[in-house]
Amino acid sequence: MRKHIVAGNWKMNNDLPQTQALIDDLKRQQINSDAEVMIAPTFTNLWHAFDQLNKTKIEVIAQNMHFAEHGAFTGEVSASMLKSVGVNTVILGHSERRAYFNETDELLAKKVDSALVNNMRVIFCFGEELQDRKSGNHEQVVERQIKNALFHLDASAFKNIVLAYEPVWAIGTGETASPEQAQDMHKFIRTTLANKYDETTANQVSILYGGSVKPNNAKEIFSKPDVDGGLIGGAALKAEDFFAIVNAF
Ligand code: PGA
Repeated sequence: MRKHIVAGNWKMNNDLPQTQALIDDLKRQQINSDAEVMIAPTFTNLWHAFDQLNKTKIEVIAQNMHFAEHGAFTGEVSASMLKSVGVNTVILGHSERRAYFNETDELLAKKVDSALVNNMRVIFCFGEELQDRKSGNHEQVVERQIKNALFHLDASAFKNIVLAYEPVWAIGTGETASPEQAQDMHKFIRTTLANKYDETTANQVSILYGGSVKPNNAKEIFSKPDVDGGLIGGAALKAEDFFAIVNAF
């Protein structure tokens, strides 16, 4: 069976005291779910979050990393640095990284390689913009993003890859893809993987949906057969809301 995963992307929110407060709230919640639970605080708070959550079922993950091992890349953080503070999973290719920091498919392919070489798990994000959806090009756009960043990999690499379909028009907007739109795209992604690799590989990869998942819509979205979890932004900043989503599984 595929893993269910609910990951909270805190983005650039929460300084150290706020991180501590949210962690305290998270620790008070009950997990009544078979989903793996993850949170992604900012770089500065990763070590503290790991130290606090180490003995719980909540995994601490990173929002981004650089592809190089070390060197003259001012302001950047490498895979081995993340690993040294207990982080074994990294989100790559979030639409905000693509839009505001010019991350291209080619750059993301290098980041994916670096994460995998360092035995990290990758949550790889992609998704179409509103104009792609309106013009009916959403499947082509998503196929291109996946192909360019991932299709140089062997099938075996997909053991360490989680996909996150996040239509850009649904992120932070309050607008969600309908459960049917999510299912259709997830099915398309799985078929794309099966065509390139094989059915077994395609059926093993968890595909998360992201974009305005909230306590009141999570259950319906997660009920779709090809939706294996969620990447949660805004609603991950309140422990009760986040756990209402986790417990929707
Ligand atoms: P949102 O963000 O839940 O606030 O729409 C999702 C994301 O950016 O991963």
